[in-house]
Amino acid sequence: MRETGPVTANRGGPTGDPDGDLPGNKNPTAGKPSTPFSAMLTFHVNEPAHLDAFIALNEAWITEYFELEEGDRRLAADPGAIARSGGVVISAIEDGEVVGVGAVVPLEDGVCDFIRFAVDPSRRSQGIGRQIINLAIEHARAMGGKQLTLYTNTKLEAAQSLYKSLGFVVTHRGPHHEYRRPDLVMSLDL
Ligand SMILES: CC(C)(COP(=O)(O)OP(=O)(O)OC[C@H]1O[C@@H](n2cnc3c(N)ncnc32)[C@H](O)[C@@H]1OP(=O)(O)O)[C@@H](O)C(=O)NCCC(=O)NCCS
Repeated sequence: MRETGPVTANRGGPTGDPDGDLPGNKNPTAGKPSTPFSAMLTFHVNEPAHLDAFIALNEAWITEYFELEEGDRRLAADPGAIARSGGVVISAIEDGEVVGVGAVVPLEDGVCDFIRFAVDPSRRSQGIGRQIINLAIEHARAMGGKQLTLYTNTKLEAAQSLYKSLGFVVTHRGPHHEYRRPDLVMSLDL
């Protein structure tokens, strides 16, 4: 069983929404039992101090399964571009360490992309990833998104199981126009 402790709020709440008006600005683990192990889990949005870890956590899993590509290097050189484009970088923090990340980027016609999703290997299967993607869905809705899409690979079994459990469906199979590693597009109507 995967349990997580209460999500403590800072910077305006677990979603980093200073006005507290984001639909999902609530404790995503409410009602779940707490454990001392995860009692200090907090979620932040577009926190510049977390961007290095955002890149590092992603480069770790990408290089484990694939290889870094030009788009990865471009983002690593300027991760602040996500916030500048109206997107959000979500970071999960425990005891001062970034233990999980994910980002939402608004595209066109009500479509948002969920990108660069990773949880530290030592903290996987404890519910952190599910909380990050649930916050991502709420942020995509708040951006006016009607559909959240993501690119993934059949090798990434935990990720696909999570996406399917949330209602994402495969909308395209085959190569991506920019990156070599994805072989699947999945989408969720918001
Ligand atoms: C995908 C990832 C972010 C999930 O984060 P996580 O914190 O481990 O996930 P959670 O503990 O919240 O689990 C959520 C769901 O993921 C799936 N899952 C998690 N660990 C799993 C495992 N070891 N095997 C199979 N499915 C698993 C389950 O569906 C789980 O739902 P459940 O708790 O109801 O059983 C994490 O596994 C990871 O960083 N993987 C490498 C990077 C990656 O694949 N990124 C996605 C790129 S598209």
